[in-house]
Amino acid sequence: MTARQRIDAADGPAAAATAVRGSDAQPTRRKPLYVRAFGFARHKIERLHHRIDLALLPLAASSPWLAKTYYYFFSSEFNREQHATVAGRLHHIRHEASSEVASVIIRRNVHRLEKGLCMVPARKVFALDYIDETLRAFENLLQASSAHDVSLLKYAHDVLGSYFSATEWKESAQQPRRFARLSDQARALLHAQDCTPAAPAVHAQLPTSDVTYDQLLTLAQRRASVRNFESRAVPRELIERAVAVAAQAPSACNRQPMRYVAVADGPVKTALVHLPMGTAGYADGIPVMLAVVGDLSAYPYERDRHIIYIDASLANMQLMLALETLGLASCSINWPDMEQRERKMARLLNLEPYERVVMLIAVGYPQAAGLVPHSEKKHVDEMLRWI
Ligand SMILES: Cc1cc2nc3c(=O)[nH]c(=O)nc-3n(C[C@H](O)[C@H](O)[C@H](O)COP(=O)(O)O)c2cc1C
Repeated sequence: MTARQRIDAADGPAAAATAVRGSDAQPTRRKPLYVRAFGFARHKIERLHHRIDLALLPLAASSPWLAKTYYYFFSSEFNREQHATVAGRLHHIRHEASSEVASVIIRRNVHRLEKGLCMVPARKVFALDYIDETLRAFENLLQASSAHDVSLLKYAHDVLGSYFSATEWKESAQQPRRFARLSDQARALLHAQDCTPAAPAVHAQLPTSDVTYDQLLTLAQRRASVRNFESRAVPRELIERAVAVAAQAPSACNRQPMRYVAVADGPVKTALVHLPMGTAGYADGIPVMLAVVGDLSAYPYERDRHIIYIDASLANMQLMLALETLGLASCSINWPDMEQRERKMARLLNLEPYERVVMLIAVGYPQAAGLVPHSEKKHVDEMLRWI
């Protein structure tokens, strides 16, 4: 198998199967007759199923209703996703008072308030449709406060303070009074912190960066999917620093519906590196495996079910570039939606029904002399069209 074939095998199940059956595959012993007969029958059934499937596809594709019927009767491919989405919605609605869900609501709504505060011209009335929910989440966060929530609490307090100063309310409105009461509680909790509102800030106050376009381009070119790692251990601190950069990524309404699970040794690591099909040939040489876990309980509606993939990917890219600056290398690893593997993964990482691995990332020190595929990139004029 050539290096290119090996990479293709790593990228997909079908290609992987082809690669394993390739010319340098080990000869296998002849299987007993009953096993071959069973295999033959199974092969026939699979082919028949495939032919029926092909015949049904045009019908299923002809309308949304027929597509739904097709998936109801002939395919269970979306079952897990539907279950995870429903479980996420339920968790979001039922556990509104938990610090996790309150944090998500606060992140989203406070971000929307900040957006409103940044608008020109300034509006004297806005957010009436979600200010009650925001105050409720703020109260829930105050009550469920853990050390982790303090910066979020301060941020929410700052923005709500700016919001109530900037907006006009009737004398009789209860929201400003409710905030004043909650603000007293928050100030007591944040006693060590400066309670001068710091958000939103003006653009000139953002940190300045010395990174030039050329430096960024070089960093992007330097990052390549590496599959040959040194065996030396990766300090945890470096992974933490890379995750700190990932955490700065944009996310839809700042909800950041993802977390990273890092595994560097032990039986979980051994199982994890072999679970995705795309690690064939280099799984055992991966020093740290990161599983990127998306959380569907961040959303009360189905319409947002794809955001976990977008937000996690944006964060992952920052993470991978940060790893490069720390002398480390990485390889993105596909996590296709396959029922049996999903179940194994959920057991291995102890995932909730509404959590799903978005992808995995292998991390380690690159072998200086290890080969790296060239992977020709598209040109700007192929990727960009002004209309
Ligand atoms: C979502 C995603 C899934 C990938 N899955 C795998 C995989 O399972 N195994 C693997 O070896 N490489 C995988 N890759 C790496 C790609 O093969 C690689 O990014 C691509 O060939 C471009 O090469 P480069 O990363 O060096 O620029 C994946 C990349 C992405 C973005």
